Parts: sequence; structure tokens; C-alpha cells
Amino acid sequence: MKTQDYINIENEFGAHNYHPLDVVVHSAERCWVTDVEGKKYLDCLAAYSAVNQGHCHPKLFKTFVEQATKVTLTSRAFRNDQLPRLYQKLNQMTGYEMSLPMNSGAEAVESAIKLARRWAYDVKGIEENKAEIIVATGNFHGRTSTIVGFSDDPSSFKGFGPYCTSAFPMHEYGNAEDLRTKITPNTAAVLIEPIQGEGGVVIPPDGYLKEVEKICHENNVLFICDEIQAGLGRSGKLFAHYYEGVRPDMVIIGKALSGGYYPVSAVLADKKVMLVIHPGEHGSTFGGNPLGAAVAVKALEILEEEDLIERSNELGEYFMTKLRAIDSPMIDFVRGRGLWIGFVLKTKARPYCEMLKEEGILCKETHVNIIRFAPPLVITKEEIDWAVAKIEKVVKSLDK
Ligand SMILES: Cc1ncc(COP(=O)(O)O)c(C=O)c1O
Repeated sequence: MKTQDYINIENEFGAHNYHPLDVVVHSAERCWVTDVEGKKYLDCLAAYSAVNQGHCHPKLFKTFVEQATKVTLTSRAFRNDQLPRLYQKLNQMTGYEMSLPMNSGAEAVESAIKLARRWAYDVKGIEENKAEIIVATGNFHGRTSTIVGFSDDPSSFKGFGPYCTSAFPMHEYGNAEDLRTKITPNTAAVLIEPIQGEGGVVIPPDGYLKEVEKICHENNVLFICDEIQAGLGRSGKLFAHYYEGVRPDMVIIGKALSGGYYPVSAVLADKKVMLVIHPGEHGSTFGGNPLGAAVAVKALEILEEEDLIERSNELGEYFMTKLRAIDSPMIDFVRGRGLWIGFVLKTKARPYCEMLKEEGILCKETHVNIIRFAPPLVITKEEIDWAVAKIEKVVKSLDK
């Protein structure tokens, strides 16, 4: 079968909830993917940062296969010998006392919402069913019906209501003074992304996170950071909130926690928050399974062993400097942190992505005019040079 045959089947029998580029990937290695016709592409999206460690990492493969031959799923009705290793690894790497494993990012966000609400009722003393969680404009926290209910992007929320918007007041992202005005006696938590990925790699003004932390402390409100896309090295630090030296009460992680092998996500928190939920009050059949836990431990070890976080920091600077040097009237500006770059155009980004695909680079537009470059963190300088030459060629060809 050829590319078009696969596309035809997908269009006919699959839900149309994505608008993918017309490339059908057959295999992948490090930061390269190969399509069904044998053409190679440099992956500049890294599965929305889930494959920070690179595609099909051999060490992850080994761990995955070894664990798969032992036991893959026990459910949490019984204990398994891999989950304690993950708890320990997360504690050692992040300093949080406890973690709560789930599968997808959205599930981990839902878990954090439940923890915050329970904390609000049992610890803070808010009247039951009155807890509010303040979110930000431009947010993206996933696709469940609760989460899309506090998005301000119509393509996320329109037509999926009713929602309980009063439970999720919204403040202007980056504006701590506005956040202050939204705090009420019923505020349980503030939930933000330290950098908004789906929003187009939007970095808040310096001092914002610090101020959010201060406002939360002053008002006995939990500070929750969604690091699902920003975290685990993508921003050039383990967590993007490290740029401001803050310590949120809860951190939510996912994506690269599995290196792309298996959906694993988690909420990190200290005991005073985590222990508000008791046996039987929250869970998931697959959450904390031994296969996912083994993979996650190895995925975290690879970040450390291969210095991928520092690499993201250095190569991100290198990539951005080179992109900024491209002289074109169509480029508005380039922003980013680590290997997480928003290439902001003055025009629609989709045709650029289509042309880059022809040139052998896979990337995806976000918010009409922004291209996000977020390759696996194992990318080399030479590969970045190669990519920038192609990007320049495409940008210049569309200048007129
Ligand atoms: C910041 C953030 N939170 C949550 C999610 C949802 O994660 P998942 O798609 O694994 O449910 C995403 C996905 O892109 C994300 O970027």
C-alpha cells in the first residue's frame, strides 16, 4: 500500500478529530522517522514532546521487552515490584515526597483537580462543592469534558458543554495582578502551564511565576504547575518553573515520562496534599502498572545519563540563534526555551509546514501562524544546521 491508500482508509474509517500532515510513518529512530515509501524526515515535533529521549531508544526498548516478558498489568488491587522504583526515582529527581501515577496527561490534570478540591474541603475548610480553581487565558490542559470547559479556545470547548465555568475562574496569563483580583475565600488552587506549549510556546513575563507563588502562599491556595509538555528537559531545565526558582504544591507530568513507549503520567506533591485522597477514592486500571513504571524509570534515567536536559538548553540556544538570523519579512519573531521554539510568522503557518514536509522536516502549526520546533533532545548540531538550511529555503521561497 502507498501513502494515499493509508490516508484513504483513515479518512473513511477513523474519526476526523485531527488534521495531520499527509505523511504515513512506518518506522523511526532517534530524531528521524521514515514513511511507508522509505522517505526520511527529521522529526521536529517529537510527538508533542513525548519522545524527548528520541524515537525507539534502544535502552527503553530493552526495558520494555524485558518487563513485557515478566508482567505488564496487575491493576492496583495487588502490588507490583516496579511501581516502588518509580516512586523512588521521582522523589529522588524532583524532591516531591509522593507521586500519583496515571496514564494520559489529561487524566493527571483531572487527578490534580480532584486532589486540590479535596484539600480545599478537608484542609482549607471551604464549603463542599464551592471550591474554585483559577486557570489562565490561552491554557491547554487536555481534552476531557471538565478540562475543555475551562479552555478559552472555541475549537476545544465549543459544542461540548454544559460546563461549570464558575468552578474555574480565568485570569490573564502572565498578569499576576489580574490573578490577585480573581482570588476569593473559595479559591482552592491556581493551575497554570509555566510555558504555554499549545498556545505557541508562550513564555510569561519574568517574575510572573514567582508572583503567582507568592499570591498562593498569601491566600492559602495551592499552586499547580502543568509540566506535561514543558517538563522533563524540554525547556532546558528539568522543569520550566525552575527558571524562576519556585516550588509549586503540585506538579503534573506526562508525555516524556515514558519516552514515547507507553502512556504514563503522574501528579507530584508532598504528603500534606497527596494524602487527602484515601483508598478507593481515585484510581485507574492501568495507572501504576509495572510495564509503564519500568519504562518511566528508564526514561528518567536516560534524561540523566545522556545529559539531555543540558543538551536541550545548549542546542535550543543554538537553534534559536540560527533561526533569528534568517532574514525574511514573513518572520515576526522567534521565542522559546531549550529545544522548544515558537517560530512566529506574519502569515498562515500551515503552507510552511506542508513545504517543510516536502523538504524532509516534520513540524506542526499551532494557532494559525506559529510553527513549533521541538525535536527530540538527542538532535545534533549538524542536524540542526541541516534543518535551518531547509527552513531558510522554504521561508525564502514563500517570501513573495
Ligand atoms: C500542558 C499540557 N497539559 C495536558 C496535556 C494533555 O496530555 P494528554 O494528551 O496526554 O492527555 C497536554 C497535551 O498536549 C499539554 O500540552
